[in-house]
Amino acid sequence: MTIFTFPRNIYFKRGAIEGLQDIVSGSERQLVITDANILKFHGDRIKKSLQGKNFKVYSNVSPEPTIESVENAFRENLSYNPDTIIAIGGGSVIDFAKSVAIKFSYPDKDLREIDPFKPMNIKVKMIAVPTTSGTGSDVSLGIVLTDGNRKIALGNYSLVPDVSILDSTLTPNVKDIIRSTGIDAFVHCFEALSARTSTILTDALTEKSIDTIYHNLKKAMENNEEAKDLLHLAATMAGMAFSNSGTALAHALGHSFGSTFHVVHGTSVGLLLPYVIEFNSKDEKTNAKYKRVERMLDMTNIIDGIEAFYEEVGQPYRVKDLGISADLYYSKIDEATEKALMDKELYYNPIKVGKEDIKKIFLEAYGD
Ligand SMILES: [Fe+2]
Repeated sequence: MTIFTFPRNIYFKRGAIEGLQDIVSGSERQLVITDANILKFHGDRIKKSLQGKNFKVYSNVSPEPTIESVENAFRENLSYNPDTIIAIGGGSVIDFAKSVAIKFSYPDKDLREIDPFKPMNIKVKMIAVPTTSGTGSDVSLGIVLTDGNRKIALGNYSLVPDVSILDSTLTPNVKDIIRSTGIDAFVHCFEALSARTSTILTDALTEKSIDTIYHNLKKAMENNEEAKDLLHLAATMAGMAFSNSGTALAHALGHSFGSTFHVVHGTSVGLLLPYVIEFNSKDEKTNAKYKRVERMLDMTNIIDGIEAFYEEVGQPYRVKDLGISADLYYSKIDEATEKALMDKELYYNPIKVGKEDIKKIFLEAYGD
């Protein structure tokens, strides 16, 4: 049976955070999970929006949170016993909060052993407030945590937050962050569109989101408020799409590329997308979907069109443009290929991908 899941309510408005008190009106104890940076910039607004409520703030969340840090947060807040968790932050904070919610529901559970197919009974209400326009974690079933020196990806449909609040005034004004997170969302759309588990429900979300990101990313980077509102919504639509259909080859390659060459996630997956589109065009059904996007965006060729869009917003599409030397790059291609080959996202790609295919894409991506 195929399932399509997303939050019960998605609130969206500039300044929506100010309505938090009403959104949690039935709740007795709210645990706000955030990080030090968000607390510094938006702490007063968050606290004011919960005035009169019995809330507690936990802000000890680092980027790329570890399993141990989740266990610590759970222990530290055990006696407070929240009925609601409000996650305010980027993907790491929301993933962290979802993990803490699992611990409150299953105190003895080892997070590494979450079964993606067995429904869970999450006992706390999950409210997610994303502060970047990209990860889609506010509407998705996935969690990425760090376990020693490896990343682990968990997922379960019961982990889709109950509520998402989209307020673009909480998102940064920093061009590089808006670009890399926006490009991540753009790639999520193409991945969800091509995934072999895609449906017309997910296709519909991806098409509108691609159109919205394509027409608004540059304006959002210039801090146009309306464009930032639209980008924020589009990133969440992309999240709903990939949460229900999966990400594919660009993410498998991007995870490996990013960790091998220390390049941020959005930039990594964005760089590899045109090569992945070329590769996946060999699949007839996927190619027909690319053609639809091509017509929708008035492009003569989808790859040239995406590269032109990248040039407009400053997203590279050749490895050499990142300043990585040819010697270093070629010396690490075998390592990056092996890592990509192990990535679970390959399962969703419409075409089966082998070692030689991956290596060929990596070789091509350096640029002449
Ligand atoms: Fe991504």
